[in-house]
Amino acid sequence: MPKTFDLILKGGIVVNHDGVGERDIAVRGGRIADIGSFEQSQAQDIVNVSGLHVLPGVIDTQVHFREPGGEHKEDLETGGRAAAMGGVTAVFEMPNTSPATTSEAALADKISRAHHRMFCDFAFFMGGTRENVADLPELERLPGCCGVKVFMGSSTGNLLVDDEDSLERILTNISRRAAFHSEDEARLIERKGVRRENDPSSHTRWRDNETALKSTQRLVQMAHKTGAKIHVLHISTAEEMMFLRDHKDVATVEVTPQHLTLFTPKAYNDLGTYAQMNPPLRDRQNQRQLWWGLSAGIADVIGSDHAPHSTEEKNQPYPNSPSGMPGVQTLVALMLHHVNAGRLSLERLVDLTSHGPQRVFGLARKGRIAAGYDADFTIVDMKATRIISNDWIESKCGWTPFAGKSVKGWPRGTIIRGRRVMWDDELIGTAGGEPLSFW
Ligand code: DOR
Repeated sequence: MPKTFDLILKGGIVVNHDGVGERDIAVRGGRIADIGSFEQSQAQDIVNVSGLHVLPGVIDTQVHFREPGGEHKEDLETGGRAAAMGGVTAVFEMPNTSPATTSEAALADKISRAHHRMFCDFAFFMGGTRENVADLPELERLPGCCGVKVFMGSSTGNLLVDDEDSLERILTNISRRAAFHSEDEARLIERKGVRRENDPSSHTRWRDNETALKSTQRLVQMAHKTGAKIHVLHISTAEEMMFLRDHKDVATVEVTPQHLTLFTPKAYNDLGTYAQMNPPLRDRQNQRQLWWGLSAGIADVIGSDHAPHSTEEKNQPYPNSPSGMPGVQTLVALMLHHVNAGRLSLERLVDLTSHGPQRVFGLARKGRIAAGYDADFTIVDMKATRIISNDWIESKCGWTPFAGKSVKGWPRGTIIRGRRVMWDDELIGTAGGEPLSFW
């Protein structure tokens, strides 16, 4: 008797942990029911994806969606639209909102705002502070929380923990892997004078390689001392990559598409303050080492560090201009472009954007195409050539640093728990985002 499913994806080239090949995928009840060839089977919806690649849903483990407090530049709904439009099925959102996400109530508030208002699935980081250290063991385990995030160097917002004692207490108290913005605050303060008015390129000289390395070395040393597991966000320097190669026993590593794509001084010449972010963009030599770290298996995940600011804010003269640029919607297209340029394989990309997040953070039911897993897929056309434009951007900020860039490789569809959410640059239906669950 023919089997019946809710959805069959027919004839796609499936990219997965067990290789690449043409397969059909059958979905029932929002989960993957079977993988193979389903000529005789029936489904409510049969989607022909021949010629397209079917990837496990892309998970962006670092976004700033600004709600509550910064809704003039992004909110959970618009951020979720941007994610789904770009082929991203789930996001981990950062705690530097206003108020910051540092309590059970603040997390519950974000979850209720996000539920069925975001197009993609979601989890929220809990900000680690001096004040909430004692509560972190309970806070990090709350449903919908992807772990603790600590800012060791000050960036957007007022979350900062830079003293040895508090950092050590956080690392000792928690049991999940915590994520760190790693820049040395004392060095940043000491070198503030390096900034030059109206010269955003001085941002990179101010927040120099030593600022990042010093902090990462200190963090790794404390992780060894306390036995904690750490996730070092947005690695930007050659020195950190070399250093972290020898500390994979405690540290997992994130790189961003911006640091892999843009470089100085060109980025500042082309984009001015729109190229300003923390940690800053760096030169080609550093960028080459990031690519080396990616191919050598030191990098575990790619996160977009989607950090939208309005054009009014970005148009202020440096250093009044805020740091950060949007990225959740361009992550997939940019990385496919890098795949087509031969810089990494499609399998390695899937490792960084799906298996990696699952492995690093202990995500339940997501991150691979296998029976029993959520039916989350990023469907891509490796042959499509497109020009990224601001018109395509769903983010409230309305701009991307990659406007005008021609890319080969494009997200054609986003499917979340068996529902088509985006197809051919159109969002479909209503938002159905749910909180992620973890082991
Ligand atoms: O450039 C950045 N912007 N880096 C961060 O760490 C924070 C982010 C933001 O929230 O604007």
